[in-house]
Amino acid sequence: MREALFDRVARFYDYEIEDFIKNINDVPFYIEYAKKCGGEVLELACGTGRVLIPLAKEEIKITGLDASREMLNVARKKIDALDRGTQRNIELVQEDMSRFDLHKTFSLIFCTFRSFQHLVTREERGKCLECVNRHLTKNGIFILHLFVPWHHLLAQERRSMYLGKFYDKENDVYVTRRSEVVFNLAQQTLHEDRFYEWTDKQGNFQRHVWSFDFAYLFRYEVELLLEKHGFRVEEVFGSFDKSPYNYYSGEQIFVARRE
Ligand SMILES: C[S@@+](CC[C@H](N)C(=O)[O-])C[C@H]1O[C@@H](n2cnc3c(N)ncnc32)[C@H](O)[C@@H]1O
Repeated sequence: MREALFDRVARFYDYEIEDFIKNINDVPFYIEYAKKCGGEVLELACGTGRVLIPLAKEEIKITGLDASREMLNVARKKIDALDRGTQRNIELVQEDMSRFDLHKTFSLIFCTFRSFQHLVTREERGKCLECVNRHLTKNGIFILHLFVPWHHLLAQERRSMYLGKFYDKENDVYVTRRSEVVFNLAQQTLHEDRFYEWTDKQGNFQRHVWSFDFAYLFRYEVELLLEKHGFRVEEVFGSFDKSPYNYYSGEQIFVARRE
C-alpha cells in the first residue's frame, strides 16, 4: 500500500504535540458533545488515538478512521494496554477521509486538530463532506476544527520557524524542530518542509525531513462549504472552552448539524 503522509512522522507525533495538547484541551469538549448526541461516534483522522481513547474510557462507542497505517499502529499499541471493556468501545479503520464507506451511521462525527486541512483540493474537501453527510444520522452533528489563517503571516509569503524541541523517549535524545513554509496565496495552500534534527548516541548528527501541503480556509468559506453539503452551522467557536470565534483566537471550531 502507498505510504500515507503521516507514516514518516508517526514515531515522533505524540512527543511533538505534547505542548499543544496542554494548551488546547479539546478532549472534554468532544466528550460533552458525544454524551449529548448519545449514539456512536466517528473520529476522522484519529491519528494515534489522542482524543479517541479518552472518549472510549467514558463508555462512548467510537470508530477512529485514519489513512496512516503507522499512526494507527501507535494507537493500537495504546489500545492493547487498555482494559477489555474500553477496548470493546473502539474500532479502527484505515481509510481515506475523502472516500470512505463504513456502512453505518453515527450521531456525532468530528475531525480535530486541523486534520481536514490536509485535504488540499476543493474536490477532496467536498468528497469528504459528502461522506460525512452520508454517515450521519438524521440531525447528527459534525464538528470541524481548523486554524485561523492569519493575514499577517500569509503576507510574508515564506517563513522560517523554530518550533522548539521535544524529548524522544524511545531513543533518549532531544529532537529539534524547525520548518520552512511557503504560502501559495492563489491556491490557498502552504507547503511546509519540517526538519527534525538530533545527535544520536554515537555522536552523529541526524536529520529527518518531512514535507507536506496544507490548505488554509477562511471562516465564511467553511460555513458556505458546510451549507453546500447539507449542514446547518450552529456554532463557530474560537476555542474549546466555547469562547466565540475571534480572529486572534487562532482556532475555528464549527459545530454543524445535518439538515
Ligand atoms: C495532525 S494529525 C491529527 C491526529 C489526531 N486527530 C489528533 O488530534 O491528535 C493529522 C492526521 O490526519 C491524518 N490524515 C491526513 N490526511 C488524511 C486523509 N486524507 N484521510 C484520513 N486521514 C488523514 C493523518 O494520518 C494524521 O493522523
